[in-house]
Amino acid sequence: MTQLSVENLLGIKHLNQKDIELIFQTADHFKEVINRPIKKVPSLRDITIANLFFENSTRTKLSFELAQKRLSADIINFSAAQSSVKKGESLIDTVNNILSMKVDIIVMRHPLAGAGDFLSQHVDAKIINAGDGAHEHPTQALLDSYSIRERLGEVKGKKVVIIGDILHSRVALSNIFALLLQGAEVKLCGPTTLIPKYITQLGVGYENNLKNALEWCDVANVLRVQHERMDIKYFPSIREYKQLFGINKELLDSLNKDIVIMHPGPINRGVELTSDVADSKQSIILNQVENGVAVRMAVIYLLAQQIKRS
Ligand code: CP
Repeated sequence: MTQLSVENLLGIKHLNQKDIELIFQTADHFKEVINRPIKKVPSLRDITIANLFFENSTRTKLSFELAQKRLSADIINFSAAQSSVKKGESLIDTVNNILSMKVDIIVMRHPLAGAGDFLSQHVDAKIINAGDGAHEHPTQALLDSYSIRERLGEVKGKKVVIIGDILHSRVALSNIFALLLQGAEVKLCGPTTLIPKYITQLGVGYENNLKNALEWCDVANVLRVQHERMDIKYFPSIREYKQLFGINKELLDSLNKDIVIMHPGPINRGVELTSDVADSKQSIILNQVENGVAVRMAVIYLLAQQIKRS
């Protein structure tokens, strides 16, 4: 297979196993490219990409931008905070104005779930979802699985526990879809108030006890408590959260094996992870960030191959 089965990357739920394999094989090639002295290829010299960020980002925004530059695409960057959205301009008007400047691909982060799907039905450009509310963050899940594959050889058969604020996490849902598609086993661990009721219907388990969850897994993907998305109190205090669901070095060293520690960032150091865990040899957090560039190059490259030039 040399083509993706989808025309946009809106969520992992729209992908199949072969799409993921193709993205990873393509990312392997680009990872080799970005480790060369000259880190750039001319593949997308005729492609223009707009990065539309309606919500804050460090890793995703910079990683997409670097991926596009490494592929020699022309890029424009839009940040809602400094735009005419502040004067009341709608999403469709904003995007149609940008598209009239002959843009081929839109990378969009938006606080509302489904914003990418909505856009894809109204505009004539390829859409890559860079995170939509608490819904999906497909390129994060792809780079997470790619990093597990790199560290452990394959994703199939691996036991992955996703820990923390699942309720407000787009990373959790995309990871669940991606990991199950590749044949991994998935459990969730966190306060019951932060685990959506429907989630076990997706084929994942739940473990309330952190030590049991860590003893079970090969990989722990630890999530941030997203205070900014919480309108009520979901647990009594940060102190209690740390005691029940925070990973420290003592806990890590008490396990009967070395597990892999992941985190999509940004980390609340001292809450979900202590610094000595985040910066330990078992942590692949910075490998995830490094791999994000190659994985995003692969996604952009594969979608751009579908663009017909008249
Ligand atoms: N992982 C992630 O999405 O980080 P940013 O919010 O900094 O992009």
